[in-house]
Amino acid sequence: MKYTLDKIADLLNLEDFSEVYSEADRIRKENVGDIVHIRAILEFSNYCRRKCKYCGLNCTNKNIKRYRMSSEEIISAAYEAAENGYKTIVLQSGEDAYYTPKILGEIVKNIKKSGIDITLSTGEMDYDSYAYLKECGADRYLLKHETAEESLYDYLHPCGTLEERIQCLKNIKKLGYETGGGFMIGLPNQTSETLAKDIMLLREIGCDMAGIGTFISHPSTALKDCPQGSTEITKRAVALTRIVMPEINLPATTSLGVIDIKEKNDVFSCGANVIMQKVTPSKYKFLYEIYPSKLSETDVKLQRINLENQIKSLNRIPL
Ligand code: 5AD
Repeated sequence: MKYTLDKIADLLNLEDFSEVYSEADRIRKENVGDIVHIRAILEFSNYCRRKCKYCGLNCTNKNIKRYRMSSEEIISAAYEAAENGYKTIVLQSGEDAYYTPKILGEIVKNIKKSGIDITLSTGEMDYDSYAYLKECGADRYLLKHETAEESLYDYLHPCGTLEERIQCLKNIKKLGYETGGGFMIGLPNQTSETLAKDIMLLREIGCDMAGIGTFISHPSTALKDCPQGSTEITKRAVALTRIVMPEINLPATTSLGVIDIKEKNDVFSCGANVIMQKVTPSKYKFLYEIYPSKLSETDVKLQRINLENQIKSLNRIPL
């Protein structure tokens, strides 16, 4: 079947989506198998120079205590993840100029010695910085486009344009990173056509992975009164992305897990094959509040074992 924008928008609105879910699950199994990749995520700084209207870390939010982890702390947390079986660590932060490419590059080089793969998720940078970090050993880069609707993008992002965001993603792809994009479900004024454009943009960029998450309003942001996005539509978008891009890596995003753990299991049955687990030390973790969520203290070893067991109980293979 040829998936056009109109077709995808229509499918998103189906009364009964069960056949599409089955198709997505079949395509997932056929193309990426039963493995669920467990990625450690380390949130190493909540400073951000941007003013994104949906995000609790935006620099106009004066209600949060800001932190930065030292290079030594970051490296030691990554080693702990590697020692406990993680094959990949995602290093994420707000856009924080304190960590220059030089500083980040040294951190990457050090962590690579443990053998773990590194995904960076530190926002927009110029071409040369992305190139330098790739040379230092970074394997993947995560930068969501958030929404493919230009007017909505402009409204949500006073500090940048959709064109700049897409250019960054194209640069990341060109440099040979495994490239991660993604978008949010339930943003104000978003329509099914918007979501169809979001999915098609992932394909146009050639994303190797995509984080599709439900919008959850943060009380200290401009969008504080906006309703939460629909988890059902989030799952549908994950399923359609799997169908349109059979080999892509699709996380069961944390924003979905926050709402209902059972729903997260559902996502594994409709196309997802990746899960993220926070390894951020507890004293920082609670300060990294992109959106409100219930978090427990970090226990790297125990949480890894628990997650592996949960995945096995779903007849899938943790890696
Ligand atoms: N609700 C859900 N997801 C959010 N993100 C940022 N703010 C929110 C929110 N309020 C997501 C964005 C960003 C990622 C790190 O977190 O998609 O890329």
